[in-house]
Amino acid sequence: MTTPRPETLAKLTPVLTKRWLSPDAWRLGTYEKLDGYAALRKALKAHPDDLIQLIKDSGLRGRGGAGFPTGLKWGFIPQGDGKPHYLVVNADEGEPGTCKDLPLMTHDPHSLVEGVIIASYAIRANRAYIYIRGEAVHAARRLRNAVQEAKAKGYLGKNILGSGFDLELVVHSGAGAYICGEETALLDSLEGFRGQPRLRPPFPATHGLYASPTVVNNVGTIASVPYIVLAGANWWKSMGTEKSAGPMIYSLSGRIANPGQYECGLGITLRELIELAGGMQPGHNLKFWTPGGSSTPLLTAEHLDVPLDFEGVAAAGSILGTTATQIFSDQDCPVYATYRWLEFYHHESCGKCTPCREGNYWMVRVYRRILAGQGTQADLDTLLDTCDNILGRSFCGLGDGATSPVTSSLKYFKQDYLDYIEGRTAPKLSDKQLVGAH
Ligand SMILES: Cc1cc2nc3c(=O)[nH]c(=O)nc-3n(C[C@H](O)[C@H](O)[C@H](O)COP(=O)(O)O)c2cc1C
Ligand code: SF4
Repeated sequence: MTTPRPETLAKLTPVLTKRWLSPDAWRLGTYEKLDGYAALRKALKAHPDDLIQLIKDSGLRGRGGAGFPTGLKWGFIPQGDGKPHYLVVNADEGEPGTCKDLPLMTHDPHSLVEGVIIASYAIRANRAYIYIRGEAVHAARRLRNAVQEAKAKGYLGKNILGSGFDLELVVHSGAGAYICGEETALLDSLEGFRGQPRLRPPFPATHGLYASPTVVNNVGTIASVPYIVLAGANWWKSMGTEKSAGPMIYSLSGRIANPGQYECGLGITLRELIELAGGMQPGHNLKFWTPGGSSTPLLTAEHLDVPLDFEGVAAAGSILGTTATQIFSDQDCPVYATYRWLEFYHHESCGKCTPCREGNYWMVRVYRRILAGQGTQADLDTLLDTCDNILGRSFCGLGDGATSPVTSSLKYFKQDYLDYIEGRTAPKLSDKQLVGAH
């Protein structure tokens, strides 16, 4: 393990993660001692429209993957329409490799609760939901406890802190489907239906939960709000880059010495992140990595100095996504890794549209054939052709995302595929695993 240089260490900017190591950080008493609910007191004295403007001015962009400007999204909620408004927090966190929302909710649930109250006040919602993935039992328990504590202290419920503002907050556990992280499938699931994406338009801003105006935001997005309210838009913009403002929690996994969450200004590079994480594991050299989960095209060792912000990663031909950097070495196989991801997409495809449902099914079978040493060169064309028929033709982003590891691994590592096809690499799958591959 190597020690990071002081100038690289200085790039750590703990904002959302700053309380995580405090003893009992999840309890209300600790949270209040560490500035907790001070932002709420300040926000409740402001006009809701001024809060929306503040979030616009801060340049905060959604932390759920697409980076949509948060203030703009809040501003789309029609006011004075006589309908109930809803805030829904997307805590599904299903993207492979992503691990930033769960630790936040486990270690600092009150920061999310406080963010929910301020955001609901800004968009004039009197009911909010946190939709958390079903497997995250521990985080859900912490959140429910935080909601109870906040209620008992007058931060939730009727007439919050004497402001006249009422808010009910419900923590809802899903059943563990990746598609329920897609915001419209999430809304269907929350309403009690099978989670499948809805046709857009109309968008959730006007026809969301129960066909009413709804904001859906990621956990990290909403948990950022109290910090911006307390310290201001300019302070937030002093971190990150001009178009990608603020700090971001990067979750590092794979062949590095110290996997975990590293919060740094947007625009840090993978080279710096690996240094912060103590370097690569001994005997491993970087071969490929995902900048933001498996739905984002793979990058390689050539891309170590790409700024990890929305613009920098796009310029390198990928997507910032959820900043889940999964790091693979020269001892890992990009063909096998892609196959495992495709197994996931195939399993998680909701089946609503043909390109994704059938395309992922067939691609899994082609991969099995290649990995069993029975593939042909024509299989590589079949994979690219199938991706062509999924990307842009699927009903939602799951189908598009599934093509990312396929096309990018074929772009950078075609030789690894040919090595299986031409017999230079020993098969990884047996004939038994080949059932249905022809
Ligand atoms: C298949 C799929 C899965 C998704 N999963 C998540 C998720 O787990 N958490 C999340 O915040 N956003 C997820 N998203 C993105 C959401 O649809 C939505 O863009 C996001 O919740 C908006 O919040 P933000 O503006 O704060 O980023 C997913 C999108 C797709 C297509
Ligand atoms: S792309 Fe896949 S997950 Fe999305 S609607 Fe179509 S079948 Fe369902």
